[in-house]
Amino acid sequence: MTMTATTSRTTTAGAALTPFADELPVPPVLRPQHDSQGTGVLRVRARTSMVSLHRALPRTPVWAYEGHLPGPTIEVRRDAALRVHWINKLAGPLPIVSVIGPPGSQNEPGRSGAAPKDLTGIPAWTAVHVHGAAVGADSDGWPENGVSRGDRSVYTYPNRQRATALWYHDHAMNLTAYQVYAGLAGMYLIRDDEEDALHLPSGRRELPLMLKDVNLDQDAEGRFTGRLLHKTEVGANEFFGPYTTVNGRIWPYARLRPTLYRLRLLNASNARTYRLVLLDESGTPVPGAMSLIGTDGGLLGAPVAVPPDGLVLAPAERADVLLDLHAHAGQTLTVVNTAAAPYLGTPAAAPPGVPDPAHRLPFPQVLQLRVAPGPAPEPQLPTALSPTFRRLTHADLPHDHGHRLVMLVKSSKPLREMEPAPDGPGIVRVRAADGTTAGFRVAAGTWADAATIHVVQDSWEIWRVLNLSGQMHPIHLHLVQFQILRREAYDASGFNPATGEAEPPIQHLATLPVPPEEAGWKDTVRVNPNEMAVVAARFADHSGRYVYHCHLLEHEDAGMMRPFVVMPAGIPGMGGGHGH
Ligand code: C2O
Ligand code: CU
Ligand code: CU
Repeated sequence: MTMTATTSRTTTAGAALTPFADELPVPPVLRPQHDSQGTGVLRVRARTSMVSLHRALPRTPVWAYEGHLPGPTIEVRRDAALRVHWINKLAGPLPIVSVIGPPGSQNEPGRSGAAPKDLTGIPAWTAVHVHGAAVGADSDGWPENGVSRGDRSVYTYPNRQRATALWYHDHAMNLTAYQVYAGLAGMYLIRDDEEDALHLPSGRRELPLMLKDVNLDQDAEGRFTGRLLHKTEVGANEFFGPYTTVNGRIWPYARLRPTLYRLRLLNASNARTYRLVLLDESGTPVPGAMSLIGTDGGLLGAPVAVPPDGLVLAPAERADVLLDLHAHAGQTLTVVNTAAAPYLGTPAAAPPGVPDPAHRLPFPQVLQLRVAPGPAPEPQLPTALSPTFRRLTHADLPHDHGHRLVMLVKSSKPLREMEPAPDGPGIVRVRAADGTTAGFRVAAGTWADAATIHVVQDSWEIWRVLNLSGQMHPIHLHLVQFQILRREAYDASGFNPATGEAEPPIQHLATLPVPPEEAGWKDTVRVNPNEMAVVAARFADHSGRYVYHCHLLEHEDAGMMRPFVVMPAGIPGMGGGHGH
């Protein structure tokens, strides 16, 4: 295995960074104080600060919650309400450099000859969203309800949901990609009695791991300046960086004991998907050490072995993983990424641990695990997890659930809400699994279009997301946790992106089972090219105007985001609201 320590040939020798030079940091924990009504209260300031991404680098200016990269981990109990004062104390212009480099330049540090964009006119304007939270719309961080420097949003989170790892991040309209990249993200853990009863590894044996790829600016001599570089490429509106950080350090190491650990993994990258594989000292995958115990929305009913080809995490997805190191005392293991960028849902081209620069994976290493020697009794792994977890099927849904069809298209109307329509110009025809063909037209496709999705509060809906864009998009719905009922493969060759029509129809090819590692509660679903993801959710307890969007942050900022509205039944003039 080549675990190369140098950057690509096109850069100067001064630009080399040594992997596994810094120890993995663990962010501080914030637990709320309770006011006289019993509501927890926290004040979290977004601040400008200087951090170290790697010991060989000059310090890096970031925008980060409480000045920490990642932000402090907020920890709450289920059903204990939390009020957070999200205070904007940001100073100075955005502390990043942004360029659009020539094709193929994304693996290189430095600007690749491109002139930096002028970011000085961009205001420090923030909106904070707790991703995955079931919360009132007035506390959800609506992207247009930002606050300026010196101001705050005071948001209340009821935390009436299963124990899980959520995360908080900036969501300001058209600024999310820059501001999350600049550092505005942290984890938010909900605990409950059901989780406590499992006695999962805790304290030093529970590790939050926030993954995020970065690129680094250089001066004219090719020396690192320490500044974060947001370099995309001409013709591709996503950021991929060559260096992977874990909890804010590039390729760190962790010193662990030969026992059981609980890893709370979060992909906080702007656009990179990871497929994580654990390798031993000879570069061979270690089977069986990792089991998945929870997904975005909480614990599974029983542990699931992480598939031998790795654990896939798209931006915003979380994985709750048990890592059993008892058989690895005294060894040094490495977690590597094998996913191509952009991610197409297909297997890796190169073997695990081998650089794949053609697919923007010049440095596969993510994290090194240095396991202490010593006696290592075999730990007891739980065989059952959440007793209240239930896998949904279509038959579990009440008869009057609503249906939505959304299409993802590479165009200036990238997120298209479709409505049934008779044949005619501009009609997309879809032949479904049952052989029937139906026509649809675009009801809305840009942020500025009126909301078309009005959900009756407390009702169930099935959302179908059909991807005709040629690349994977992780689609995130605010407010709810859903389950993926199935995926379907389509022959989309009949779709004409220029006219938006499909004649001959888009044809159902196969219905794909949901792999066990995606069978839990989710708030973000990967929608692979030429596939439809079918998800079911109950829009319960809260109401108001929310968003759903692609969580590739550059796509979100470029219009791949739309509103939906949840209202109680019976409001005059709003109709029944079901999309059947
Ligand atoms: Cu993680 Cu709408 O966001
Ligand atoms: Cu139905
Ligand atoms: Cu997208």
